[in-house]
Amino acid sequence: MKGLILSGGSGTRLRPITHTRAKQLVPVANRPVLFYAIDAMALAGITDIGIVISPVTGSEIQAAVGNGSSFGVSISWITQDKPKGIAHCLLISRDFLDDDPFVLYLGDNILQQGLQGFVKRFEASRAGYPTGWRENRPTGQQIQQRPAARILFTTVSDPRLFGVAEFDDQGRLVGLVEKPADPPSSLALVGVYLFDRSIHSAVASVRPSKRGELEITDAIEWLIDNGYRVDHEILKGWWIDTGKKDPLLECNRLVLDTIADDVQGKVDTTSRITGRVALHADAELVDSVIEGPAVVGAGTRIVDSHIRPYVSVAEHCEITSSSVGNSVIMAGTKIVDTKHIVDSLIGRHAHIGCGVRNAGAEAGDTNLVVRLMIGDQCQVELGSS
Ligand code: DAU
Repeated sequence: MKGLILSGGSGTRLRPITHTRAKQLVPVANRPVLFYAIDAMALAGITDIGIVISPVTGSEIQAAVGNGSSFGVSISWITQDKPKGIAHCLLISRDFLDDDPFVLYLGDNILQQGLQGFVKRFEASRAGYPTGWRENRPTGQQIQQRPAARILFTTVSDPRLFGVAEFDDQGRLVGLVEKPADPPSSLALVGVYLFDRSIHSAVASVRPSKRGELEITDAIEWLIDNGYRVDHEILKGWWIDTGKKDPLLECNRLVLDTIADDVQGKVDTTSRITGRVALHADAELVDSVIEGPAVVGAGTRIVDSHIRPYVSVAEHCEITSSSVGNSVIMAGTKIVDTKHIVDSLIGRHAHIGCGVRNAGAEAGDTNLVVRLMIGDQCQVELGSS
């Protein structure tokens, strides 16, 4: 089985972060989102992986992933000229995929459950059925017995943001609609799919949707309409499409909840660490408090500061006389004299400091919180609190 990870697209919903970098490289617990997809494939024994990239962010992704050897996999790069849809990615990956079954993984998705069970169930169900077709008695339609696809659903609160399943009265999957205004169910398609080569006929047959993309949902619906067997299962555990700030922060919390306690860096005697914290060997904590779960990357110094739960601070950051909670702070960023940063996504090499006093804020006002989503190399001066 091969793997195909989609890491192109334009990342509009994570702007300004994605003005300067690929959304799949935004870190969760200090690892790019994309790395979780590669890890999941490697764990499921899938080592021949194609990654679709865009001409804009592709080289950055290639530099981050390398040739795949650090993950124990081999990578083939496939460039998509424009984000013309998920099914379009399959069209341009045809040579790489050849006639092999494969897992398609959207590079901004993270799944708790891993891929092993999902892949095993697909393989077992294919091994158990012949390749032939049989007649469906009530309709007379020819149906393929061996599954051509296996997809995953999960219940979501706002199905309008996803591909959504449509079932008939007997609970059979009869269709899929992409981002429907009036959703037929609350079961959304998770961005991990298993296909055999039949999907290539489907992809060749679908036409661009209203938003101008070749939709994978239309291709799967084509399979159903044409008698191919599409199996589905309900996801166990959490799944996050990290393409927006709040889901990304939620994902950061879920992953931080699983980290091991690993304090290797320098901690001075006036500092205190509680809960599970991973402090890189080259990181330093001076006169500060970290309440885990939290991760702190190489070369980062935290001085006279309070890191509250669910913070990921990447490498080479400086946090001085500040407090931060529930946030992702990317590499090379400086935060000085700024209290009460919460729920924030802060780009690389940004500089957040304290400017003139905010007229509305009393000194020491502990109710004041600061929520930020700021891009790389930004400078922000906040009124002191
Ligand atoms: O996350 C699950 C949802 O993913 C499904 O429920 C939807 O049915 C499916 O269409 C997809 O919807 P999104 O709107 O979230 O897809 P997005 O445009 O964010 O693209 C998903 C990934 O695929 C992302 O890493 C970018 C990449 N991509 C996307 C397109 C459209 C490409 O590499 N090329 C593309 O042309």
